[in-house]
Amino acid sequence: MVDKYAVLGNPIAHSKSPVIHEAFAKQTQQSLSYERILAPLDAFAATVQDLIAKGYKGVNVTVPFKFEAYTLAHEQSVRASSAGAANTLIFDGQKIAADNTDGAGLVRDIEQNLEVPLSGKRVLLLGAGGAAEGVLQPMLAANPALLVIANRTLDKALAMASKAAASTISSSSITVTGCTFKDLQGQQFDVVINATSAGLTDTALPISDTVFADGCLAYDMMYGRETPFMAQARANGARVADGLGMLVEQAAEAFYLWRGVRPQTRPVIEMMRAL
Ligand code: ATR
Repeated sequence: MVDKYAVLGNPIAHSKSPVIHEAFAKQTQQSLSYERILAPLDAFAATVQDLIAKGYKGVNVTVPFKFEAYTLAHEQSVRASSAGAANTLIFDGQKIAADNTDGAGLVRDIEQNLEVPLSGKRVLLLGAGGAAEGVLQPMLAANPALLVIANRTLDKALAMASKAAASTISSSSITVTGCTFKDLQGQQFDVVINATSAGLTDTALPISDTVFADGCLAYDMMYGRETPFMAQARANGARVADGLGMLVEQAAEAFYLWRGVRPQTRPVIEMMRAL
């Protein structure tokens, strides 16, 4: 019998995770199955228990269950605790361990695939919702010189910045601040990451054209479409990346947690790009 895995969400039909994990399994010659499962909105925990009873080894978790997945687990990794959310569950008998591979996936895509080391850089993180929180701890661990968190709602940016400042990973050499988009006027960044959901509605963010420093990498965590943020960055000379690499890298990190084998991501990113 092959080891069984799945991705749980609602909706879930759009998920590309099965294609990615099947490619990893083939490449690393691991014998496993990976399917999409639509969990009812009011029955996430029951769905997980049912999968454990059926012998599944783990699941990925997507919208809207990442917070519930975190609280359901018996133990949580540091990066899951920092995010307050989990995208990966590992089943060991009845025991559930939670992790969050989103931030590691983002940092790996930026540093390894795009070849932009974050250490010592001025980094701007746009957004202070779940997607931004999910990547905060690995971003700090990458040791930028400056991390500015800008958000439409100031309170959320300030709360995230003070959480970051208090984090044990955050060394005293990293300056972390929170602000509104308007406060960015006159500041420049080497890496600008869009973690807002504004792109979903094709909404532009009210950020100044001058935030993109010379040689800036502008990264949108969304994929599959050119967002107004990406268009603005491109028009202002930035190098632009979408979140497809992050999607594949967070999956590779989950695959590693489950299987103890790290797949090659480059060919899978290329395959996904060509789909
Ligand atoms: P996600 O899990 O995608 O992060 P979320 O937790 O609802 O979803 O957070 C959405 C983020 O996108 C927030 O930072 C939100 O800003 P607010 O905190 O002010 O709500 C941001 N966002 C969504 N739509 C936006 C828009 N049209 N303009 C600017 N920011 C937007």
